[in-house]
Parts: sequence; C-alpha cells; structure tokens
Amino acid sequence: MQNDNINSGSHFVPVEPFDLIVFGAAGDLSLRKLIPSLFHRWMDGQIPATSKIIGVSRSELSHKEFRAIAFSSFKNFHPSAEIDETDWSKFADHIYYVTLDAVSDGADWSGLSELLADSGDKQRVFYLALAPSLYGAVSANIKRAELKNDGARIVLEKPIGKDLGSARAINNAVCAVFDEDAIYRIDHYLGKETVQNLIVLRFMNSLFEPVWNANSIDHVEITVAESIGAGNRASYYDTSGALRDMVQNHLLQLLCLVAMEPPLDLNSDTLRDEKIKVLRALRAITTQTARSTTVRGQYGKGASGGAVADSYAEELGRASDTETFVAIKAYIDNWRWKGVPFYLRTGKRMTSRYSEIVVQFKEVAHALVKDGPLQPTRMVIRLQPDEGVKLLLVTKDPGPGGMRLRYVPLNLSYAEHFEARYPDAYERLLMAVVRGDLGLFMRRDEVEEAWRWVDGILDAWKEDATPVHSYAAGTDGPAQAAMLLDRDGREWFDGV
Ligand code: BG6
Repeated sequence: MQNDNINSGSHFVPVEPFDLIVFGAAGDLSLRKLIPSLFHRWMDGQIPATSKIIGVSRSELSHKEFRAIAFSSFKNFHPSAEIDETDWSKFADHIYYVTLDAVSDGADWSGLSELLADSGDKQRVFYLALAPSLYGAVSANIKRAELKNDGARIVLEKPIGKDLGSARAINNAVCAVFDEDAIYRIDHYLGKETVQNLIVLRFMNSLFEPVWNANSIDHVEITVAESIGAGNRASYYDTSGALRDMVQNHLLQLLCLVAMEPPLDLNSDTLRDEKIKVLRALRAITTQTARSTTVRGQYGKGASGGAVADSYAEELGRASDTETFVAIKAYIDNWRWKGVPFYLRTGKRMTSRYSEIVVQFKEVAHALVKDGPLQPTRMVIRLQPDEGVKLLLVTKDPGPGGMRLRYVPLNLSYAEHFEARYPDAYERLLMAVVRGDLGLFMRRDEVEEAWRWVDGILDAWKEDATPVHSYAAGTDGPAQAAMLLDRDGREWFDGV
C-alpha cells in the first residue's frame, strides 16, 4: 500500500516496504538526522505506508512520548523547515518505541519481537546509532533474539574503531552475525549530492579524463573547513581528533573519488575496488616524514560568527594535545599521479564552513603575455555550501589598452541551474540501504585500508612528538599549514 503524500512531479521512486529499527533512537543522530530525513522521504511519497520506524533505547518512554520528543527535536534542529502538524502526525503513526538495553545479555527483547511479528517479508534494517564499541554486542543480541530474518541489513555509523586493530575487532564481531553484503558502513559524505556528482563530472564529460593526470595537473587541494567548534562533543572529540574524525573517512573518500581510475560500471563492488586501489597506493607517512608532510593544530580563543569563541581547551575544561586541525601533503604512488601532491586540510573553528576540491593544472609551457595575472587553470569543485563547479581561466580583458589579462570563472552554480531542494545525505543513504545499494557505503577492506594509512600517521606523530600548533578560532588554521605549501612554492587557493 502506498502512502498518500506523493508529491506530483517527484523523482523519488518508492522503495519496498521496510521495518527500520534504530538503536540509540533517543540520541542526537537519530533525532537530528535520521527521523527528520525519514519525514522528508515520507512527504515525498517514497516510504510505503506499511513501513515501520521503531526507535529503541534505554530511556523509559511510550510511543506517544517518543513521537513528541521526535517532533520537538525536529523543530528545534530544523527551525526553518516548514512542517505541517497534520503531515507530521500521519508520519508519526508509523513511529514506534521500545525501551530496551540492547547491549546487556539478559535483556528482554519481546517488546521488539512483538512489533516485528507481523512484518511478513518486509525489508528489515537495523540501524546502530550507537558507540562503535557496542556494535558487536548488539549484533550478537539481534541474532540471539532471532530477529535477523532473511535479507536483514545492518547500518553502522562511523567511526568504525579508532585504529586498524579496533576496526578489525568490530568488523569481526559484526561479520560473525551479518554477511559483508548486509553491512552498510556509513560515511555520510558519500550521500552528498555534490560528492555523487564527482563521478559524473569526471567520467561523463570527455574533456577531463585526458588531462586528469600528472602530465597536466600540478596539485590537488581538498579542504573541509568547519566554523563550529567541538562544543558539547568535546569529551568524545578529544578521544578522536581531526585525523580520525574527518581524514580517515570523509577526506580520504573524496581523495579516492578524485584520484581513482574509471570504474567499468557503477556496481558497488566495481566502484569500491577502484577506491581501494587509491588507498593502497597512498605513500606511507613515517616518523622521518611526519614533520615535513603533516601539520597539527588546535584552536585557541578567537572570534567566530561575530562572537568571542572559547578555545578548545576551555570547551573541554582542561589542556589537551588533540588536534582540531590537520593538514597533510599526500602522494599517490601510481602511474597516473606520480609526483602530484594532494594537500588535504580540515579543521574546526575555521574562518567559515566550506568543503572544496581544487584541481590546479600546470602553468602554460610558454607565457606569451608577460604581465599578470599569470594564473594557472583551476577547477574548483564546491561541495558545500554554494554548491557548484568553477573552471577558472585566464581571458583577455575586453576593450582597448593592449593585451590585459583577467582571471575569471566559467561558473556552474547549482543554485542558478537547479531548482530542486537537495536532500540531506541521510535521506539518500537511508533509502539506499532499503534498496540494497552498497555503492554509497564503505566496504570492510576500504575502512581497514584507510586505517592502515592513518595508523602510520598516528604512530609517526607519537614517535616524533609532532607538535600541535595553536591557531586563533575563526582563522584558516596555524601558519604552519600555509608553510606546508609555501615550501613547495605553492599556496592554498583562496578564491579570486
Ligand atoms: C562528522 C564529524 O562525521 O562530520 C563531525 O564527526 C563533523 O565532527 C561532521 O562536524 C561534518 O559533516 P558536514 O556534513 O556538516 O560537513
């Protein structure tokens, strides 16, 4: 049976009916991202009316109380979203709640079993919005409670572990219950519209592939800057840091999509096979090279969004040497990318929030006009916000006055070209799980390979005692990050 909210003209194809069981339902991810995303999919008519969303957590709540919390959280987290109470209450009729300590051995799972008793052959999805250290125990308990029916899937949030060893242990524990093709490891960047477009841009336009290599490209920059600080996540964040929190997953996924070979097709394994080849080719960063190829930073007091911003140590309530900023010069040792540096940087409390990939092409072999600006061709792929792609070219400034040059963009702005609302990454990812599209998720070997490279950096930092440089909140990170490129005669692209 279809729900009656189908927006006419919608491109959303309904998925098969499903039961989605969210463990950690009263937590931040569930209330801020998962339930609002499901509401949007419901409103677009993508969720069949027989589907159930079942929240599970230890808090003692009734269905009604949980629905009320979900509604007020929705309004709180998405103040600008227009939400009609009648629409919400139709959607909320499909939300259920079970109080359960899913980790403990002797817990009574009968409440959940009863809710799933009439589920027939509906697709069953277990979403673990929990600390990764609990994934193994919850998987085992799902099996023990005999709730893992044929075709059941499990969704795991990042981070999978905090190093290669712990990632393997988590993967082993989950794989003891679920087959690899039933495990959906989330990296929410893979669900972003503009990240998906990277594949289309590179491989569906014949212009780029011939120049997408070391012969034509000088270097690549990948920046994921955030203006927010660690805030109330500081105590968790302190066990992680920018390298584990952002580079191991989001930045490496972006790097893979920029650098991988053309896949034969878009099948999940074909795509993931190509990505993993990039990870395997990443040159190891060692104790000898850590200082010349990486920069660690931590924000001090500063100004952010027009207000005074606390330092990281103040937010945390104590001194710490966890990095809130990292910049890395990476090399991919393969034929295509020989000698091309990939500069990665990410940090909290930076000047503004933006994610961008800059592909800088080599300078022309012989400059006919000597007066500047003698800028190289750059392709700037803006992932968020102001999504779009710019090709920056040198042109002749029109009019008299000789051969004066201007550096101007060919500009594909999403906002100007497309009217659509961009679904949150979680909307796409949740529906992809129900559909069984594994291509948007990380395979076990991919996660472990990424950890292998990151572990090398963590070990090198430890052995070398690589310093953490301070930067003022609301800036572009420590001066050492600019020096990383300066030493190579380059600078971070800062717009035109
Ligand atoms: C998460 C990190 O994976 O990504 C957070 O744990 C970070 O620290 C977030 O803030 C950034 O995601 P987005 O979609 O806002 O760029």
